Amino acid sequence: MTITVHSSTQPLTKRPAWKALQAHYQQIRPLHLRQLFAEDPLRGERFVVDASGIYLDYSKNRITDETMRLLIKLADECGLRKRIKAMFNGEIINVTEQRAALHTALRAPEGERIMLDGVDVVAEVHAVLDRMAVFSEQVRSGQWLGYTGKRIRNIVNIGIGGSDLGPVMAYEALRHYSQRDLTFRFVSNVDGTDFQEATRDLDPEATLFIICSKTFTTLETLTNARAARNWCLDKLGDDHAIRQHFVAVSTNAEEVTKFGINTVNMFGFWDWDGGRYSMDSAIGLSTMIAVGPDNFRAMLAGFHAMDEHFRTAPFDRNIPVIIGLLKLWYNNFFDTQSVAVFPYNQYLKRFPAYLQQLTMESNGKHVTLDGICVDYQTSPIYWGEPGTNGQHSFFQLLHQGTRLIPCDFIGFYQTLNPLGDQHDLLMANLFAQTEALAFGKTEAEVRAEGTSDRLAPHRTFEGNRPTNTLLVEQLTPKTLGLLVALYEHSVFTQGGIWNIDSFDQWGVELGKALAQKTAAELKSADEPQLDHDSSTNALIRRYRQFKRGQS
Ligand code: F6P
Repeated sequence: MTITVHSSTQPLTKRPAWKALQAHYQQIRPLHLRQLFAEDPLRGERFVVDASGIYLDYSKNRITDETMRLLIKLADECGLRKRIKAMFNGEIINVTEQRAALHTALRAPEGERIMLDGVDVVAEVHAVLDRMAVFSEQVRSGQWLGYTGKRIRNIVNIGIGGSDLGPVMAYEALRHYSQRDLTFRFVSNVDGTDFQEATRDLDPEATLFIICSKTFTTLETLTNARAARNWCLDKLGDDHAIRQHFVAVSTNAEEVTKFGINTVNMFGFWDWDGGRYSMDSAIGLSTMIAVGPDNFRAMLAGFHAMDEHFRTAPFDRNIPVIIGLLKLWYNNFFDTQSVAVFPYNQYLKRFPAYLQQLTMESNGKHVTLDGICVDYQTSPIYWGEPGTNGQHSFFQLLHQGTRLIPCDFIGFYQTLNPLGDQHDLLMANLFAQTEALAFGKTEAEVRAEGTSDRLAPHRTFEGNRPTNTLLVEQLTPKTLGLLVALYEHSVFTQGGIWNIDSFDQWGVELGKALAQKTAAELKSADEPQLDHDSSTNALIRRYRQFKRGQS
């Protein structure tokens, strides 16, 4: 039997802890991190958590023990513990779609039982994982052949949103562990350039397409999938070739069949798993082919370790909860607008893009679970780049701009690619940035160095910019799983307090519907009757006029 989680009754901004935090903010706002560290020299060893293979230093935040006490009180008042339990138990926490959000079941170890509507979902998950493993090994070993008997050398994942960002991020992150004689490409954009550039140097006889779409109705993915089919058949000339060159990952067997892919070549997942929470499901098929089933399972073990930490650790030792609460502290009390995430690891170059969907599609909501407009800010804007690259472009604004931007820095003790002293240089930069952001440089210090009066203000760093530092031993499949699950659960922590549905995404629907209508207007041979606003009508007319001139 499934239970729907109901919204908590008391409005967030009326809660005692919220009010206490508002008052507390007035005391914290004028304090500088220089002062906080001077008054508490061991702060850098106290405000840390070392758990499940991640060391979190959150001492360089504008907080005191009282701040943390109040934030945790807020989490308690909002029933976060109960919500966590509800999520892990498969209760209907995605209330607008009447679904569970049971992505934690995707990484539950074999033999664990999680019952949903009388079915053990863990057994189902492992049955799919086993099928994925068999298929992956066939491709990796060269046993899976193309229609003309050639070995598959190229794997092209076609999908968008969660059906792309997770796979591409994980492939890039785990490239070191990938089978190097296979080429991986990812096509997402309906802009034909994406498909053309991804396939221009590939041999259709040696190319396998993975069509990833939870719904199998997404315009971009199906358009690109059709382009792929034509590209393939142009060379191979026989519909029967589809069987060896196309597999599907979806929850929608009917649409997969309609497209022409036999469900024998389909890997399923479930409606209780949201797109942006699906890189560890069959959506990760390209990841598994790249790194092999054992590494994929190691990644799942990392996810699971973080799940267990989140589920069981007290909130004051709970990494996702602490990170979620700190983000909320700046977002709702300091009124900051964005959060930057900087992995000091080139393999994690797509991690910020992945986090953008995870955080903003989950928590970019304007009404509570009951449909009441919120009177507080929800998700901040997430962005980032790998270090050190960002230092030489936008870090100027972080250090001396007028906006306060809390940042997460992610670093690793060991590199996968030792090259002279380069890893020390990389990590030195990470540590230096968090120090500079926190403590800055006073005008007096600048002058003491002999800087002229005219230049002193320009060379002064106010500091007091908050950061978290996350240190991990090495980037491995397991630690990637840990990191992704950490952010998933920090998003959940915030959504729980904001009392919003972190698992729906109605905000994408209007644009999709308008694009369907507009596409028909752009393509119509006869002049269409346009009933948009004057701006949109004029843009459509202008585009059509240009097209006419071309033909
Ligand atoms: O339009 C947004 C969205 O629904 C995302 O939530 C999802 O990850 C993406 O589109 C792709 O959806 P699908 O996997 O069903 O093609």
